[in-house]
Amino acid sequence: MFKKGLVTLTALFIVLATASAQAPSKAVLAKGKEIYTQYCLTCHQPDGEGVPNLNPPLIKTAITIGEKTKLITWVLSGTTEKKEIDGVFYGNNMPPQNYLKDDEIAAVLTYIRSSFGNKSSAVSATDVKKVRASVK
Ligand code: HEC
Repeated sequence: MFKKGLVTLTALFIVLATASAQAPSKAVLAKGKEIYTQYCLTCHQPDGEGVPNLNPPLIKTAITIGEKTKLITWVLSGTTEKKEIDGVFYGNNMPPQNYLKDDEIAAVLTYIRSSFGNKSSAVSATDVKKVRASVK
């Protein structure tokens, strides 16, 4: 009985720890929004809706909500390739955003991954640092 309780309690701790690790702080979200407004909004628009045929939406699109390494690489490197995103092509270029610091990229990506109806995990400055080292 006691052992079962302990197992349940441990499981609960793990669930809570994971949940709190994923819930970004208000400060990070506010910073992310500021960076988004300054550097991304002109193309991706205030609610991440994008501009048809020019700039893709950031609402549940594959790269935004997908695997972190790919997202970080994308934002650091940009692209002139006009890649297909969820079956649609966009005519504009995505300029490299590598002038932003690790914590700034982490904040803006955490912001877009938990805004516009997205519910993906946070991105840390350490994640960005690792990817930046391999992108160079
Ligand atoms: C000059 C316009 C422009 C700016 C500024 C810009 N982007 Fe983009 N972004 C694009 C275009 C165009 C694409 C699609 C490129 C393609 O089709 O290959 C794109 C694609 C993306 C994608 C992939 C979409 C998906 O989820 O599949 C993400 C994520 C993204 N941008 C994030 C950002 C962030 C974050 C910023 C600001 C730090 C930013 N962009 C600034 C034009 C821009």
